Amino acid sequence: MSRPPGHPVSLTEFEADVRAGLSKADQKELYSKYLYDDLGTALFEAITLLPEYGLTRADLRLLDGHARELSNWCVNLSTVVELGSGSGEKARRILPHLVKTGPLTYCPVDLSGAALNRCVRDVDDITGLKIIPIEDSYISGLASASKLRKAETSMLVLFLGSSIGNFDPPVAEQFLIAVREKLKSGDVLLLGTDLVKDLDQILAAYNDPLGLTAAFNLNLLLRINRALGANFDVRQFEHEARYNLADQRIEMHLRSKSDQVISIGSGFTVTLKKDETIWTESSYKFRPEQIRSMSERSGFSCEAQWIDEEWPFAQSLLRITSLHGDRRAGLIE
Ligand code: AVJ
Repeated sequence: MSRPPGHPVSLTEFEADVRAGLSKADQKELYSKYLYDDLGTALFEAITLLPEYGLTRADLRLLDGHARELSNWCVNLSTVVELGSGSGEKARRILPHLVKTGPLTYCPVDLSGAALNRCVRDVDDITGLKIIPIEDSYISGLASASKLRKAETSMLVLFLGSSIGNFDPPVAEQFLIAVREKLKSGDVLLLGTDLVKDLDQILAAYNDPLGLTAAFNLNLLLRINRALGANFDVRQFEHEARYNLADQRIEMHLRSKSDQVISIGSGFTVTLKKDETIWTESSYKFRPEQIRSMSERSGFSCEAQWIDEEWPFAQSLLRITSLHGDRRAGLIE
C-alpha cells in the first residue's frame, strides 16, 4: 500500500513531535505519519479490504484498466519509481505491461525496510525487470532513482493511493513542485487521488462497523506508550471521523471520554478535558478540475485523467511542462 509522507523517524524527533502536538493550546494534534508502525501498517492493509473502504479497490481497478495504454505515454522509458510502494500490489498491475517495451528498472521508495522487502518479493517474478529498492524519504529517494538512469531515457513516477490527500493543500503543491524539480523533459507522474463523493459513502469508509479504523487510530496512542513510556488508556478514548465540508477533508480524531492527565516519559504531562479531541489525520478529497489546476500551478500539465465510476477516484497522468529554468535545472542534476 502507499504510505503517507514523512521523513526518517528518530526517537527524539518522534518525542519532540508528540510533545509539541499535545502542547497546542487550541486543537491538540499528532502527525498522521506516526500511524504507520508495523501494527498500524497491518491495520491499514486490513482497512483496504473492508467493503466500506472502496478507495484502494478503485485505485487498483484503474491501474488494471489503463496499464496497457500507460506505455503509450512513456517514450524511451527506463525507470519506474514508486513513492511509498508499500507491498508493491499496485506496481504489480502495471509493470508486466511496461516491461514489454524494453529493459526496465523499478525503484520502490519507502521508509520501511520491511515494506520494501515484501515489495521486492512481490514483483520479483516479473521477467526482464531490474529492482532497486530505495529506503529513503520520497524526494531524496526520487533524486537517487533519477541519477541511476541513463541519459535520454525517461522515468515514470507513481504516487498512488491518494497519499497526497494527507497533505494540507499548500504542502501538497510544494510537494509536487519538489517532485517536478527532480524530473526531466519526457518524464511522467501518475497521481492517484480520492474524489469528493456522497457524504454517507465517505463517512462509512472511515467509520467501519468492524472497528478497524478505530483500532488503526487508537494504535497511535499505544505506539506512544510503547516508544515513549506514556500511560494512555485507550479505553478512555473514542475514534471519531468527521467530514469537514468547507475544507473537503475527512478528519480523524481521538476523543477523550473523561477529564484525564496522561504522562509521557518523565517530566511531561498532558491534560485532556472530557470531549476534547486529538486530531490525528486529514484525508483531503478532490474534484477532478482541482487536481488539474494544482498540477498546473506545480509545473505539470494533465494529459489524461481516468475516473472510477463505482468509487469516485482519479488517476491523473501529469507531464512536466517546459518552463524556462528547465535546461538549467537539467544541468544541475
Ligand atoms: C493511506 C492516507 C490514503 O486517507 O484514506 C484510511 C489512510 N485513514 N483510513 C486515507 C486512512 C483512515 C488513507 N491514506
